[in-house]
Amino acid sequence: MTGEPSGMFEAIYAGAEAGLAQPPWDHGAPRPQLVEWAEGRALTGGGREALVVGCGYGSDAEYLAQLGYRTTGFDFAPTAIAAARRKHPASTVDYLVADVLDLPPEWQGRFDLVVESLTVQSMPPQQHQAAARRISALVAPQGTLLVLATTRDEGTEVTGPPWPLTRSEVEEFARDGLDLRRVERIENGTWWRAELSRGD
Ligand SMILES: C[S@@+](CC[C@H](N)C(=O)[O-])C[C@H]1O[C@@H](n2cnc3c(N)ncnc32)[C@H](O)[C@@H]1O
Repeated sequence: MTGEPSGMFEAIYAGAEAGLAQPPWDHGAPRPQLVEWAEGRALTGGGREALVVGCGYGSDAEYLAQLGYRTTGFDFAPTAIAAARRKHPASTVDYLVADVLDLPPEWQGRFDLVVESLTVQSMPPQQHQAAARRISALVAPQGTLLVLATTRDEGTEVTGPPWPLTRSEVEEFARDGLDLRRVERIENGTWWRAELSRGD
């Protein structure tokens, strides 16, 4: 682990580049919980803008681009972003190195769809509230935020990473005009899938 904020993740991605184990969360395809959600509402981008938080190797970002979104994917691990660009050479996705806690100001209120899958829970619990607020602020008027996370019961402690989210942590995304439309407990109760949208 390095002293950089991305240290543990950067080390995992660098190890994968060196032929060691693949990142355990990556399965080389878009996340099924995202695909099911998108198919359930016949989602199409129509040239609108999407953002994938903590995009790793970019499978979810590529999926949204194929649905017709102008898509940006970011991750704070530079090796993940370099690998995403290399793995998808013909991609239209804009892959960038950025930290959830230090995002470009011009991203505020910009994206019609924001997908957050397992990133906040990979951050220390004391950062969850700030991270949720930063992510919610990226959603455009009429836009949607999809949150995927594994579940933790209120009041229980866990030794992370990861630090799965409680229901009240999921509700932290409902800030500054972003309303919680639906919270599902899927995968036999082990995952949250929450949909939020901005009404203005
Ligand atoms: C558990 S992985 C999930 C990757 C992908 N979203 C998925 O669902 O498979 C967490 C990802 O978030 C990235 N990440 C963690 N903290 C971050 C931060 N503060 N800013 C940006 N990316 C971060 C990690 O580098 C890693 O790629």
